[in-house]
Amino acid sequence: MTATVPPLAGLCTFTEAQRTAMSVEDCVAWMKRHHYVLLRLHGIFTARITAEPLYELKTTFSLCSYLCAEHVSAIRKRVSELREPPLGLEVVPHAGLKLCADEVLAAPTTGALLLGLYEVLLPALAESLDVYVATTNLLADAPSVRVTRFCRLEVADMLAFGQQAIAATVTAAERTQLTPWLTMLQTTLNVAGGLGGRGTVSEELPSPMFTAQPYVYDAVPKRDGRFRDSYNAGVNPEAFLYDERFSPRDKVLMLYYKRLREIDVPEMMASILHETVGKPWGFYADMSRQLWDEARHAMLGEVGFVSLGLDWSQIPINFTWSLNLNTQLTPQERHAVLFFIEQGLMPKSGKRYEWEIGQQSGIPLAAVFQDFDWADEVLHAQMGRQWYVSSFGDLKPALEYGDRCWSKVLSHWRDYIDRGLTEHRNWWPEVYRQACERWGVTPDATALAFHETYADQRADLRSISASG
Ligand SMILES: [Fe+2]
Ligand SMILES: [Fe+2]
Repeated sequence: MTATVPPLAGLCTFTEAQRTAMSVEDCVAWMKRHHYVLLRLHGIFTARITAEPLYELKTTFSLCSYLCAEHVSAIRKRVSELREPPLGLEVVPHAGLKLCADEVLAAPTTGALLLGLYEVLLPALAESLDVYVATTNLLADAPSVRVTRFCRLEVADMLAFGQQAIAATVTAAERTQLTPWLTMLQTTLNVAGGLGGRGTVSEELPSPMFTAQPYVYDAVPKRDGRFRDSYNAGVNPEAFLYDERFSPRDKVLMLYYKRLREIDVPEMMASILHETVGKPWGFYADMSRQLWDEARHAMLGEVGFVSLGLDWSQIPINFTWSLNLNTQLTPQERHAVLFFIEQGLMPKSGKRYEWEIGQQSGIPLAAVFQDFDWADEVLHAQMGRQWYVSSFGDLKPALEYGDRCWSKVLSHWRDYIDRGLTEHRNWWPEVYRQACERWGVTPDATALAFHETYADQRADLRSISASG
């Protein structure tokens, strides 16, 4: 046998373990740049969720917000291990990096945003992460290398998505029009000595283009053309789910709808994240995780419809919850409402009940989805206790405040009709009939006739989006 067991724990060669180019101080300075750019990417992805109409981008931005937050957390921890208190992680490493991120945040169109993210910031980050691993001592600095490689892996995933999204949405004319801006962005990175700061640094910044005016966050949710009749409150899913006359199989269809409707939660949570300043980093990290979970719950609903061969765009996916919360409440009040709703899911009649419906339905997919959905919601209730209840000291006043905030939210269902925004059409029978066709069963006459709508009374309003 000629094979040998690899030396150095399989990390690297003896040559790579003898690199001397980088001291601890050099590594920290370099990683702080990765930290800064990931922090800004997290902020950009988050800020652009609410008003991005295209559903696939809304959900992907939710994922990227979470991924960037995870890597920010990992680098913060690693930097803290390198003799670094005070950490100095709030310091802007170079004005060029800041200008570049500010400009991408303020990109006036989705096309510009995608090009700035996926053709400037993320490729520059990928390159810098690669060069870091190619430069530092792979044995002495192994913990940083590990963090950097994990980050690189997910940056590659993000870039692969971005390329496809750009190919599908950005026209040649749009790209040509944005070329001067993209060149300017590249200049901002060049004057910063490259994203990693290893090149020649200059103080001569290019003139701002999109940030000539200050960026204004758009808190009004937007939806793409598949979302029709978004003010519709013509069906009350909770009334159906808790009615014992209806079968678990039929309730699964309503659960898929409830899951898909959760796309309003990231739209709302993004506004809390963007508009809340000065919290410890853990707040933003946990809230970003929850935001991503809620986008994932919406996609579980989407998959449910696909699994039945049903076109979800024929159903109105209501958005008045995120719209009203974002435009009527402060960020802290929105967080209070979110916690109040999610805490309400914890008793047996909440998420466990939805899982039981999935179990009893004989539809394995529904059981799996509700099982994970329940697990996620338990996590969210814990996060809520840590970051929201802690400021009240006790659960009771925290819930009472959430209850009061929720009661303040005005939703004028009749007014929506008067303004021609919706007719509150009862969409249930059509989709239920189609589902029964897929299942090869005759529709249950009582379930087919179900028609309970959200009325304009407070008690009914409160159950809208009570899925969390
Ligand atoms: Fe949740
Ligand atoms: Fe959820």
